[in-house]
Amino acid sequence: MIRIFTPSDMDRILEIEAQAFPKSPYNRIIFTSLHRSHPTTFLVYEEEEILGYLVYTPEGHIISIAVDPRHRRKGIGTQLVREVFRNSTGDFIWVEVRETNTGAQAFYEKMAFRKKGVIPRYYWTEDAYIMVR
Ligand SMILES: CC(C)(COP(=O)(O)OP(=O)(O)OC[C@H]1O[C@@H](n2cnc3c(N)ncnc32)[C@H](O)[C@@H]1OP(=O)(O)O)[C@@H](O)C(=O)NCCC(=O)NCCS
Repeated sequence: MIRIFTPSDMDRILEIEAQAFPKSPYNRIIFTSLHRSHPTTFLVYEEEEILGYLVYTPEGHIISIAVDPRHRRKGIGTQLVREVFRNSTGDFIWVEVRETNTGAQAFYEKMAFRKKGVIPRYYWTEDAYIMVR
């Protein structure tokens, strides 16, 4: 159910991305670059179709995660982040989260991440929390 991204997954990832981040979705160029830089840690969650994705660095920096809105609150995000717990090589795992993205903050808090700092204007007009586990 969880496997490594391949380029033929791109269109479906772009659909999920557009729904998850309507104001600032990553585009094809960004995902292609992420795939080049992180070929083994760009993952998709698939049932009949792809329902979510996660990109992280081998050290444990979560770069992006999104789940199809119709399939949220079913544990898919948790299963994806558990892959980081299992495979990352660093001493901790971290992610930047928009200060207004309270849903994602609750999601990471449930997984024992804690807010450790703020990066002012990380998203240009908005601050980010750094959440660490
Ligand atoms: C954040 C996200 C990936 C979570 O994926 P998910 O598959 O819905 O998460 P899970 O079902 O594994 O949630 C596990 C727990 O996290 C918490 N949680 C998840 N989403 C939540 C929300 N919107 N509000 C409050 N708590 C939430 C709940 O405690 C949940 O358990 P419960 O459903 O039994 O109450 C998903 O909401 C998403 O794609 N959001 C848009 C993109 C985004 O914000 N990505 C993160 C950017 S840093």
